[in-house]
Amino acid sequence: METPGQSVAEAYVAMYGRPAEGVWSAPGRINLIGEHTDYNRGMCLPIALSQRAWLAAGRREDDRLRLASLDLGETVEVALDEIGPGNPPNWAAYLAGVVWAMREAGLTVGGLNAVLSSQVPIGSGLSSSAAIEGCIAVAADALFDLGLTKDDTGRARLAALCQRAENHIVGAPTGGLDQTASLRAPAGMALLIDFDKLDAVGLPSARPVPFDPAADGLILLVINTLAPHANVDGQYAARRAACEAAAVKLGVTSLRAIDLDGLPDALEKFQSEAQVRAVRHIVTENARVVEAVAALQARDWVSFGQLMTAAQASQRDDYRISCPQSDLTCEVAVANGALGARQTGGGFGGCVIALVPLPKVGDVSDAVTKAYDAQGWPHPDIFRA
Ligand code: GLA
Repeated sequence: METPGQSVAEAYVAMYGRPAEGVWSAPGRINLIGEHTDYNRGMCLPIALSQRAWLAAGRREDDRLRLASLDLGETVEVALDEIGPGNPPNWAAYLAGVVWAMREAGLTVGGLNAVLSSQVPIGSGLSSSAAIEGCIAVAADALFDLGLTKDDTGRARLAALCQRAENHIVGAPTGGLDQTASLRAPAGMALLIDFDKLDAVGLPSARPVPFDPAADGLILLVINTLAPHANVDGQYAARRAACEAAAVKLGVTSLRAIDLDGLPDALEKFQSEAQVRAVRHIVTENARVVEAVAALQARDWVSFGQLMTAAQASQRDDYRISCPQSDLTCEVAVANGALGARQTGGGFGGCVIALVPLPKVGDVSDAVTKAYDAQGWPHPDIFRA
């Protein structure tokens, strides 16, 4: 069978009449815990997925981008100096936006031909967008000899540029979790990202943490609820605005300034129940990330699973970013032997992750599928991370 890298390389030849200069790829991610904390200068703990976005690319003589999506059968062309919010629209914005951000930052990046294909399911909370951004970032880095992928500092810079593309050109007010995970997470480890510990040029610190459930007979099961998730709609922006308003009211630069000890006093300053819930989610979620890292270091999977389930309760009851499909999936998974389960990513759908002992994987998968049948929902897509 053809690999995705071969498919984009062949499509490139068919489309442009000569071989690509190379094929690059970048992964989607699963956020294990630490949700909506990134734009609050908080902590997150993602892993990179084996599913990746692939890009065959080559330089052009002129200042234009010609971008093809193999999956959608669409091609878009745009002049480099015409890239801006809404131009090009849709999927091409994630690619063109990165080139725009690199040029804005003063990097010498010129015209490109490219063919894209991605294995990361769209709208599933697994960062299909960061995978697309990441693969053009590493492609441009190589083609224009920028040398940024050589070390973690350079990769952190690329991740920040990808986030800028998503914020300014795509128009989704996301934090930096996804792009950091895609470009900086090492294979076989989780990455503790701390958006409050910045280096000299303001890039977040990221430190590998052991994560090898298989070594202890566990599977991280991914259950795609198929309830669509999007960061571009108003809900994500509304949560972010609520946090920023709460920080202003507390007189702090971000909610990271509040810890568990300070939480009761902080909550007394709010009349609105919605603000109380938002602040409580962010503050307790940061604390759960710290505990989760300690649990992983101790290979204490029971505690890690309980933290996942507690994080789900917090995003369901306090932050209100879950959905009926995710709630039911988590409940059924835990009732059938998962050590813990939670919805991952931006929210309102997408994927649930469940930490399941190997002998229970069949039970959990069957029980979740039956529960969907009983609701009349289409079967979820279940796979191992
Ligand atoms: C989306 C955003 C991230 C982050 C998560 C929630 O994936 O792109 O920046 O806020 O949601 O943790």
